[in-house]
Amino acid sequence: MLDNVTTIEELRQIAHRRVPTMFYDYMESGSWTEKTFRANCDDFQKISFRQRIAVDMSNRTTRTTMLGEPVAMPAAIAPTGLTGMQHADGEILAARAAAKFGIPFTLSTMSICSIEDVAEHSPDPFWFQLYVMKDHDFAKRLIARAKAAGCSALMLTLDLQILGQRHKDIKNGLSSPPKLTLKNILDMAMRPRWCMNMLQTPRRTFGNIVGHVDGVSDTSRLSAWVGEQFDLQLNWDDVERIRDWWGGKLILKGVLDAEDAAMAAKTGADALIVSNHGGRQLDGAESSIAMLSEIEAAVGKDIEVWMDGGIRSGQDILKAVALGAKGTLLGRSFLYGLGAGGEAGVTKALEILHKELDMTMALCGHRDIHKVSRDILHNCPF
Ligand code: GLV
Repeated sequence: MLDNVTTIEELRQIAHRRVPTMFYDYMESGSWTEKTFRANCDDFQKISFRQRIAVDMSNRTTRTTMLGEPVAMPAAIAPTGLTGMQHADGEILAARAAAKFGIPFTLSTMSICSIEDVAEHSPDPFWFQLYVMKDHDFAKRLIARAKAAGCSALMLTLDLQILGQRHKDIKNGLSSPPKLTLKNILDMAMRPRWCMNMLQTPRRTFGNIVGHVDGVSDTSRLSAWVGEQFDLQLNWDDVERIRDWWGGKLILKGVLDAEDAAMAAKTGADALIVSNHGGRQLDGAESSIAMLSEIEAAVGKDIEVWMDGGIRSGQDILKAVALGAKGTLLGRSFLYGLGAGGEAGVTKALEILHKELDMTMALCGHRDIHKVSRDILHNCPF
């Protein structure tokens, strides 16, 4: 089925047909007017390459490191909520595909498969993403679980103290597992493959949370718990506290401003991610690619700078690298693959991105990703 697929856009179209509306919409939405969500992709299109000729293209490599870990290309799988609702056992399947491909996988706190489940069913250590929560004991327990599962880095999300409003989620009555209303049943009945897979797995709710927090035994209580738990008073002291609790490699996610980047660098974290949460939080903020170069210039000597948001091709990865990113994170582009075809779909997405990255690098006159700089760009407004 995926044999003839050659673009991330085709994977998106297949996922749209296969994933129930409620979960497809959750993935494909930005907040409010979706201006920032759109800008993340549109701004990549404003950048053009310099075409170079008569340069040696043999023996190319896109291999590099992120946080000192070897990666097959400068990319990792981003933490995305409800991944196991795009496809049954989604986090496990994506972690396996990432491990086989040779890039890191990040598990979201809001995953369906639990930390332990992913550790048991996928071959490589992965990264764990944490929100800053008011319940310190629960946060500490999550950190201890991530350590026990062998996670090699903690990714702390700093741009989600309140959840950006995504209109479709409200209208769809987003819940996990989905509530069995007539509308949802009809919608799911049109996606028999998704239903069959989902009926065969026990993993249908938030695996890291249900059963691990007092008073949270079902998802209706859970949504109330999330609303209560995300810490509105989050500040830089919390970041240092969590850094000390964890004691390992730390990544700060959600930086979109050079002043915040300077604060992030001072915490001693190992990497920061220039990100607007896929356009899902502050609508009207700049795209990530528009802010990357300014942030890299401000702190790139002190901390590894990565970016996410809007990457739909290997060309986008190369543009981010040209503007100073040492790595990128893939959110929707891997989720399209997952929704379209499970593990094989994620592998397909990674293969497409890698091929585009490698060929574009060659046609820009480079054989080694480490040699790529702003010099490969012709027009770049950022
Ligand atoms: C969670 O991180 C979300 O964006 O829904």
